[in-house]
Amino acid sequence: MDVRISIIGTGLVGSSTAFALLSAGTASELVLVDIDRQKAEGDAMDLNHGVSFVSPVQVRAGDFSDCKGSRIVIYAAGANQKPGETRLDLAARNVSILKDTIPKLQKACPDAIFLIVANPVDILTYAALKESGLPPHQIIGSGTVLDSSRFRFLLSQHFGVDARNVHAYIVGEHGDTEVPLWSLANIGGADLHHIDFFGKAPLDRQAIFNDVKNAAYQIIERKGATFYGIALAVRRICETILRDEHSVLTVSSRVNGLYGINDVCLSLPCLVTATGRETILDLPLSFEEERSLRDSASSLRAVLNDLGY
Ligand code: 2OP
Repeated sequence: MDVRISIIGTGLVGSSTAFALLSAGTASELVLVDIDRQKAEGDAMDLNHGVSFVSPVQVRAGDFSDCKGSRIVIYAAGANQKPGETRLDLAARNVSILKDTIPKLQKACPDAIFLIVANPVDILTYAALKESGLPPHQIIGSGTVLDSSRFRFLLSQHFGVDARNVHAYIVGEHGDTEVPLWSLANIGGADLHHIDFFGKAPLDRQAIFNDVKNAAYQIIERKGATFYGIALAVRRICETILRDEHSVLTVSSRVNGLYGINDVCLSLPCLVTATGRETILDLPLSFEEERSLRDSASSLRAVLNDLGY
């Protein structure tokens, strides 16, 4: 397997992602690019020292030109939230960094799938599409893949069921306007509405959703940043692309027309394949869910307008 993945930005998220990819043997080569070259070199050395415990992989620090031939470029560069900051508060700062880096990356690896992870991920995914002119399938964001996993975890804890058997999606902005798709949530194919699972206490839906939506704030308050969950989410997206799995993941991508939403990037259940985001699934949402989704899209569009997109 000759697969190069480049990670741009080796802060806590980027370096944790490198560790997750290395541990899982996802790629045969990892190129770490950071404005702090020493940091990237230190991470490469540290990771290489563990290679005898995992599948063979080469980890090296590099610059944009070293990303040449990457199958996937993971973009994790920029400031992250401080306590009390929203993801959208980071927009102007992180878009200006992205405007400088995307053209250099596109020159080095025009055929790579670009996986935007830095926040606000939906805004940066849209900006990357606009700045590069690449087709919508080729630039995706981690979006609410992590939020959907948080949702599935909390439901799995409530019902005492393996989280892999809980199917539940969070859509919209990866942020404060995200939307839980209760109408489509199911366990073992059974709709959460209709059956009392193993006599468990009734589900406090608002409490569960609040815990999902506020998870990052809760973690940032306690440890300053989040990075393990997102690293595992990014690894999952990379696996789906590299193995052409055609998995359904709520990645962020450009939406044009579905649910009356146009010209914005946000998360919906998508078919993710070797080409990136192949299709957005047109699932039957409830009236309330569609309305909330459009509200989320409007909130993102307002930020994009302020940024001149
Ligand atoms: C998260 O949700 C901060 O977006 C990051 O963990």
